[in-house]
Amino acid sequence: MGFAVHCSWLAALLCLHFFGGQVCCDCTEENMEIEGGHYTLTKQLQKGSLLIYQCPEGYYPYPVMTRLCQHNGSWRMAPRRFTPQRCRVVECPDPNVMEYGEVSPPQDKYFVNNVTTYECYSGYTMRGSARRVCLPNGKWSGSTPICSRESGHDCADPGIPAGASRAGNIFGIDETVKYSCNSNLFLVGPIERVCLENGQWSGKEPACYYKHTYDTSLEVSQAFGSSIRESLTTLESLNDTQAGKTIRISKNGTLNIYIAVDISESIEEADVKKAKDAIITLIKKISSFTVDPNYEIVFFSSDLYEVVNILDFFDEKKVERNTIINILNDFQVGQKNTGTDLNLVFKTFLERMAIIKLQVGKEQFKEHRHVFILFTDGAYNMGGSPEPTVAQIKNMVYMNHTVEQEAQSREEYLDIYIFAIGNEIFDDDLQPLVTGLGGKHYFRMKEITELQETFDQIIDEEEVKGLCGLHKEYEIVGSPQVAARKKYPWWAFITIQTEGRSKNCIGSLVNPYFVLTAAHCFTFGNVPEDVKVEIEDGQGRVKKVKNFIPHPKYKINGKENEGVLEFYDYDVALIQLEEYVQISSSVRPICIPCTQETSDALQLVGVSTCKQQEELLLKNDLERVSFLTKREPRLMKKMPTLSLVGIEWIASSMHWRHQA
Ligand SMILES: *[C@@H]1O[C@H](CO)[C@@H](O)[C@H](O)[C@H]1NC(C)=O
Ligand SMILES: *[C@@H]1O[C@H](CO)[C@@H](O)[C@H](O)[C@H]1NC(C)=O
Ligand SMILES: *[C@@H]1O[C@H](CO)[C@@H](O)[C@H](O)[C@H]1NC(C)=O
Ligand SMILES: *[C@@H]1O[C@H](CO)[C@@H](O)[C@H](O)[C@H]1NC(C)=O
Ligand SMILES: *[C@@H]1O[C@H](CO)[C@@H](O)[C@H](O)[C@H]1NC(C)=O
Repeated sequence: MGFAVHCSWLAALLCLHFFGGQVCCDCTEENMEIEGGHYTLTKQLQKGSLLIYQCPEGYYPYPVMTRLCQHNGSWRMAPRRFTPQRCRVVECPDPNVMEYGEVSPPQDKYFVNNVTTYECYSGYTMRGSARRVCLPNGKWSGSTPICSRESGHDCADPGIPAGASRAGNIFGIDETVKYSCNSNLFLVGPIERVCLENGQWSGKEPACYYKHTYDTSLEVSQAFGSSIRESLTTLESLNDTQAGKTIRISKNGTLNIYIAVDISESIEEADVKKAKDAIITLIKKISSFTVDPNYEIVFFSSDLYEVVNILDFFDEKKVERNTIINILNDFQVGQKNTGTDLNLVFKTFLERMAIIKLQVGKEQFKEHRHVFILFTDGAYNMGGSPEPTVAQIKNMVYMNHTVEQEAQSREEYLDIYIFAIGNEIFDDDLQPLVTGLGGKHYFRMKEITELQETFDQIIDEEEVKGLCGLHKEYEIVGSPQVAARKKYPWWAFITIQTEGRSKNCIGSLVNPYFVLTAAHCFTFGNVPEDVKVEIEDGQGRVKKVKNFIPHPKYKINGKENEGVLEFYDYDVALIQLEEYVQISSSVRPICIPCTQETSDALQLVGVSTCKQQEELLLKNDLERVSFLTKREPRLMKKMPTLSLVGIEWIASSMHWRHQA
């Protein structure tokens, strides 16, 4: 180890020549090792390189998480002789803060996998988890246990989260409770909660974090998902009887989404690609709602790279979702400057907002909602604190000239979410920047890697399960069967018995009762009992068939006298099932053109015509299409040639109303 460049004064000139002036000051690996773990370097031993310590799950690097190679060849956070770098077992915050009850076992400290149980004193009843386990991310499983008794207060006892202290014991309307964290913990979430008129506490319960506490991907997708969903829709759902489909009514107003990704040296090089993929996933997810947001997307270090300019959305030329995705995919980070200017991001967003306001006018601008989504570790070293700029942004959105009461009511028009990502996060600088009503807005993650999956889960599958064509696009881990179902959730396997021989076909679910397949799968004389459809929906794989209907114009020998032996026009058939299949994220219908479902899936606002859908879907004379084939044990995608079939017939045979 330790390949420092040592230059004697004699060799110095030569050395200078070879190393272009950087000679004297690479860092060394001396004393850098970590007991029980290892480390990675972002730029070997060059200046600006970040050394990141890694420990096995359930452990964290101590005393420091990272070290930075400085200009003069010394490490920031120099190793200390008496506290050698090692992997320490993860600790969870102290649960013995619970009132009116007992925690067992009583311990000074609680470590990963330690189990605690909770019991209330007699006369008190428990809400929350009676048993909690200390998890590898430094949090307790379940929810805060609270012992309380009927007190006649307007709000229920809000309890005390592990590691915290609470000031305030009166739970009447407009009363507040304040939280702080003990010892070396810090608070994430609201410092204060107010008992509201509806008997609920404002905001979400805060939590006490250690520097080694992280949010899991699942927590983030649930919390961020429910929050962003609120921004995306009023969740007024009508019950559509046709396919159990939820129809959303979007708010009258415009949604502007501003995304910024920190690509300064404090976040690793390879992460930029992952961040791009995550943003693309997010944009696709958002587009499964009927709202059509405008996007501003920037990457930043000391400079700002504006990948998508929101002002383009206000020009005549409407920016399409695919265009955004292509621009994002093509974006390459060139020579990066060192330094991070977080304030520049907010200043740019503020400028864009000011221009939008000028363009659309004050009254229209009032109807605009703004959602900021930032990915950074918060280690800015240029441009100063963004707090004053954020205050200006709030003024602009809240319309500060009006009275306090009204400013309050406009808080829902601005959300600032921060995904704090990294091994060394500057929570104190970042947390004051988040804003917005309701759910959690500050997320703490170790790596950007999980982000794409996190975003893929943010939209409640239950809620959009009626939406046709929605599927997972990335490689899914798990058995090939499960992976295939998630990737092609409309897929059905069909077996037809004819005179003792069985024939296999693949079909697509078009609604919970109907499967679309080829007419040539059937032979004259087949009866419904000959046909079996397999779809694993958790209700039994094999589905009984009520009826099958080949297209009336399908005639394989229809052109025999013209010399065409096998004629495959109208080669479609519908299979009607006895019982409907259970729709879920892995069992979902494919989109049929000229239907409202497809209109929604294409984000065509309101009712669209066949023509509009065709223009979007079949832009070119030749379209690349694919079909599925089953070769045990996998499902494969293949490229065929295909002719368009009688869409109207499909729709009318299923007695579907559709807009033509
Ligand atoms: C190297 O630079 C840092 C700050 O730039 C300074 O704190 C440190 O004392 C310097 N170390 C040496 C050995 O000169
Ligand atoms: C708690 O965890 C620590 C560290 O793993 C372990 O040494 C200790 O025995 C555990 N205590 C209990 C009560 O399980
Ligand atoms: C819609 O469905 C929900 C749950 O399925 C049900 O509670 C509600 O009453 C339904 N509303 C109407 C208008 O049918
Ligand atoms: C929706 O916004 C338009 C202008 O964008 C306005 O004319 C209309 O009155 C609004 N509708 C409602 C229900 O607020
Ligand atoms: C509102 O905020 C803007 C921007 O910070 C500021 O210029 C203006 O003076 C403020 N107006 C009032 C009445 O506070």
